[in-house]
This record gives sequence, structure tokens and C-alpha cells, in this order.
Amino acid sequence: MSKKKTLGQYYTSPEIANFMVKLSSNKGKALDSGCGKGVFIKELLSEGFSKIKAYEIDKDSCQVCNKKYGDEAEIINKDYLKTAGSEEFNLIIGNPPYVHWNNIPEKIRGFLTKNEFWSKYVNGEWDLLYAFIIWSIEKLKQGGELIYIVPYNWFNATYAESLRDYMIKNGQFEIICHFSEFKLFDDCYPNNIIFKYRKTREKKKPLIFVFEYKKRKGDIKSILTSIKEEFKKIDHKSYEKEGENTKVFTMPNFKNKNMWYLATPTENKLINRIEKATGGVVLSDCLDIGVGMVSGRDEVFKIKDDELKGEFILSFIKASNCERYRVNSGTKYLLVDDIKTESELKKHPVIYKRLKDNEESLRNRYMSKTKNWWNWATVRNLKLFKDNLSEPKVFVPCIDRSLKPRFSYTEGEYYGAGDVLTIVKKQGLKEDLKYVLAWLNSDYINKWYRVKGSRTGHRIRYTQSYVSRIPLRLINWDDKKEVEIHNRIVGLVDDVLMGGEREDEINQLFEELI
Ligand SMILES: C[S@@+](CC[C@H](N)C(=O)[O-])C[C@H]1O[C@@H](n2cnc3c(N)ncnc32)[C@H](O)[C@@H]1O
Repeated sequence: MSKKKTLGQYYTSPEIANFMVKLSSNKGKALDSGCGKGVFIKELLSEGFSKIKAYEIDKDSCQVCNKKYGDEAEIINKDYLKTAGSEEFNLIIGNPPYVHWNNIPEKIRGFLTKNEFWSKYVNGEWDLLYAFIIWSIEKLKQGGELIYIVPYNWFNATYAESLRDYMIKNGQFEIICHFSEFKLFDDCYPNNIIFKYRKTREKKKPLIFVFEYKKRKGDIKSILTSIKEEFKKIDHKSYEKEGENTKVFTMPNFKNKNMWYLATPTENKLINRIEKATGGVVLSDCLDIGVGMVSGRDEVFKIKDDELKGEFILSFIKASNCERYRVNSGTKYLLVDDIKTESELKKHPVIYKRLKDNEESLRNRYMSKTKNWWNWATVRNLKLFKDNLSEPKVFVPCIDRSLKPRFSYTEGEYYGAGDVLTIVKKQGLKEDLKYVLAWLNSDYINKWYRVKGSRTGHRIRYTQSYVSRIPLRLINWDDKKEVEIHNRIVGLVDDVLMGGEREDEINQLFEELI
């Protein structure tokens, strides 16, 4: 495996490193936790830091760094996680390695699993980055600052809970700059943050100053300049400003290890209102939510027009069939997973020929070796689909760039393809599925999901776990007015399904319920 994969070797640009060094309000002992080619050392020196230490596990990088800065900084070739936890630094800064648990070098993984300190934090979905954050906080003085550039996903990943818990117990965030879809590294995923965190036992926590860059493209120098301009206004009082490219606001420090999210004061107010009105009820309490099936070779299994008919041809809803509220006609696929042997398959000569002609390509799919070559790659939730075939269903694309969600309703006999989620009522839910559909497509849930759901810039991910957690406003069936609102919403949805424009009225009715 490459060093990029096992050691997370991605390099920070000098302008970003300089920007980060300038975020520090501390002087004194500074440390770079994995210095690579030394970009942070250079910027620390240029900003007047004189007591600089750096660690780097990779001998070659360490040598390069020592040649350049060995006279001015102490650069040590060592695994950062094996360094003493008691060195007291005023500032720890850098771009720690992001390495998923499976790619972490065996030696380090073994150490993390067996070590008394680490074993209580790690799990099989952890990232080396989490260990770097915790170890850096351990090494800071009280009042010391941690300034890191890292991916954002651990803010709301379930498996990073132990990290979030550690962080809220040991300090507070002061600044978070979120770059969403803007790429800070050429060869890496977007969705990075630069954060400044202070180690402190102080119980009273200031507001966090948040800067969000909303666009995919831009000039990094002018983005950093505009952040610096905004920072001049920092006084950690409630603040909120949204422009075409940026969002600048303050928000309270995180209170617990539950998923963290960045929300403006206005967004926070709405989220609290929705969550209060729904009283803790979430979608998965009342509806089944399932991912769809993946053929692994659509060009072979997808049926054009009416070229094949019969029991093995099933209609699926794909993301492209979801039009918001409505689905257009589904997409037909061949599914012969019930056929267990090739001789049985031969009894259907037209189907057999079609599949046999593509046998090599089908065998080359990424799928379980125990499956027959004519099977679909992943047949998920088949029972859910079969049990609910003649029931109304809602489908939503798993990834969507549309500004409005595309929860789409159908009473047709459809299965869900791999790029959609399927939602069906559980037994006992009295609300009409059309009411749930309207709720999911409402402005309120759209706003809620854009903050608390899964999102990378404008790309919204509707995953089973996130959609399951969407709050649901149930009707109080003893309250005549609420029953009337429910029925009116269902009626308006019928109009929308026929092509009517009634969404404003639907939103107004939900306004009365939250
Ligand atoms: C994301 S790169 C950043 C490099 C440099 N700080 C920069 O920003 O350009 C992470 C660096 O950490 C080093 N590294 C990875 N695992 C380490 C460990 N356990 N201890 C010390 N350094 C490590 C890698 O070799 C790599 O140089």
C-alpha cells in the first residue's frame, strides 16, 4: 500500500499553513504532530515562533525536513502516538494523517487496540486522525490551542462518538472554517475544516465563530482573505451573515457527544422548533426504510421497452425516476435470482442467451463468490419489497443535488434500485403516507435535513441511517383541528400528484403543526 494510504501523506499549501498559524493567539512552545515536508515549521518560524518541535514517522520526509529546518526546530523521526503525553505545548498545529482503521499500519493498529489508554476509545471504523486529535489535546497545556486541518465527517459519524466525547470534556472550539465542496487538496476529497480548539476546564463556553464556504470553485487566497476580514469582527456574540459564497455565524459550543452540526442561529431556532413539535418521534419509529438492490451490470439486466416480458421482469424505481412528489414510469430489469441452477436457467432460452452472451462480464462484477454468475450483485430488502409490493411507497434518490428534496410517491408495484431509498408505512401508523410525503418534501424538513442530515456542499445524501432520524410530526387524532389539517394536506398532495401547485399551502399547514 502507498504511503498516501497508510500514512495519510497529503501536503498543505503554504498559504493555508500561514493562515492557520496566524489563527493562534498563543506564543511559546509549538508542535507539528506529523510535519511531512515542513510547511508548518516554515510558517511558524516566519511568524516568530522559536521553540518548535515536530514529529514525523517517515524517515525520508524527516530527513528532508531536518535538512531544511534542523537548525531552527527539533525534528524527530518517531511515531507521534508513542511520544510522551505530558509535554506541555502552547500550540499544536498541523495536518494530521487521515487513515481509515483498515489501512493503519498493523503495528500502530495493534498498539491502539492493546494500549490501556487507547483501547477505550478505538473501534473498527476509527481513523488515525482521531488518535492524533486526542493525543494532541493530551499534550497541550491548559489554555493551549489545537489548530488542525481535517476532514469534517467525524462531526456526525457514529463511530467518532468517543472522540467527540473526549473533546467536549477537555475543552472548547473557538473557530471552525468549513470548506464543504471546495477542495483544499488537489488529490483528496473535499469537505474539510480548519478548526481552532482550546484545552480548558472552563465550564462556561464561548460561542464558536463559524465560516462556511458554499461554492465548489474559488480562489483560495481570496477565500482566506475574506475569512480574515470576518475574523476582525469576532467578539463571540451572536452573529449571522449569509452572502452568495459564504455563511458567517456564531453558534454555541457542542454540548454532548451526539452528532455535531453547524447551524446558524436562525437554523438552530427552526431545528429546535421542529424537534420540540415532534417530541422525539422519528421516521423509523413509524416507517420502514430500506436501500434498494444493485445489479452490478445494468446494461445486461436493464430491459429496454418491451423486449422481454414475463415473471422475471420487474419494475424498479431509480433515482432518475423520482420527480419529487411523483415518480415517472419505472425502469424494467431482469431478475432471475430465484433460479438456482444453470440447467433450470436454460429452460428460459431467450433469457439464458442474453445472460450467457454476457457471462464473462457478469462474472467480473464485484460480488460475493458464493453467488451464481446470473445473480444480481446485491439483493437487499427483497422481503420488504415483496411484502409491500401492492402498498403505496415513497422513494428518494440516495444522492441529490436538487435544491428541493425528491421524495416521490407511487402506488405502483415497484422495487427500489440501488440508487434510491424506499419508505413504507409500518403497521399501525394512522397517518396517510401522502401526509408523510408532504412532510418530507416540506420546507421545514428540507431545512432540517440540510443541517442535520448528511450533506457535502450542495450534494445531499439520503442514507438509511440519516433518513431514519428525520423527526416526524404525528397527528393528535383526538384533536379535530389536527385531523382536519392532516386531511387537507392529503387532499393537497392529491392535487400535487395531478400536477397542481399547492406546495405553499402545504407548508402553511405544517406551519400550524410545528
Ligand atoms: C496529511 S500529512 C501532512 C504533512 C504536513 N504536515 C503537511 O501539512 O504538509 C500527515 C503526515 O503525518 C505523517 N504521519 C503519519 N503517521 C504518523 C505517525 N504515527 N506519527 C508521526 N507522523 C505520522 C505522514 O508521514 C505525513 O507526513
